[in-house]
Amino acid sequence: MKTVIVYGSTLGNSKLTAERIAFTLGNAELFEVNRFPFGSLPEADLYIFGGSTWGLGELQDDWGVKIDDLQSAALTGKKVALFGTGDQNSYSDTFCDAVGTLYDAAISAGATVIGPWERSGYDFSESKAVRFGRFVGLIIDEENQYDLSSERIAAWCTQILEEMN
Ligand SMILES: Cc1cc2nc3c(=O)[nH]c(=O)nc-3n(C[C@H](O)[C@H](O)[C@H](O)COP(=O)(O)O)c2cc1C
Repeated sequence: MKTVIVYGSTLGNSKLTAERIAFTLGNAELFEVNRFPFGSLPEADLYIFGGSTWGLGELQDDWGVKIDDLQSAALTGKKVALFGTGDQNSYSDTFCDAVGTLYDAAISAGATVIGPWERSGYDFSESKAVRFGRFVGLIIDEENQYDLSSERIAAWCTQILEEMN
């Protein structure tokens, strides 16, 4: 399975998460979102988009510039998975909202989004990344639960590989 991973990261948390996902899945190509050619997608079996949330529920800056490109990318019939980093203690009402924005854009682009993630184990009030009771992708909190990140990434990657088969 060939995977393309595209991330936007200001402090490096989403970059690190992207690198760990790439290492775990294997055969993955990493792109910073501001260098990714949305107009001529590299061939892949799975596209993973991820990034952090800033302001109050806003996209990370580089994603803010590129979200329209994601929405109009040729993703019809393609498999997409999502991840995000955020801070559930300080931003309990907008926890990882940007992952919800990425989800809406990917769905608009015609993608099939795989890799939902249970919300148990997190303590927050609201998140746009929750749809039908589950997160739409992997959620990582390096501020408050960094000790859980490795096992979350490993479990999610296992789930992704199962869903792809
Ligand atoms: C000014 C500021 C605003 C933030 N807003 C949010 C937010 O609304 N929701 C959230 O979940 N995290 C928020 N965060 C936390 C970041 O998303 C978190 O630190 C993330 O891991 C950063 O990832 P990055 O290094 O990939 O950019 C905010 C952090 C700062 C400093």
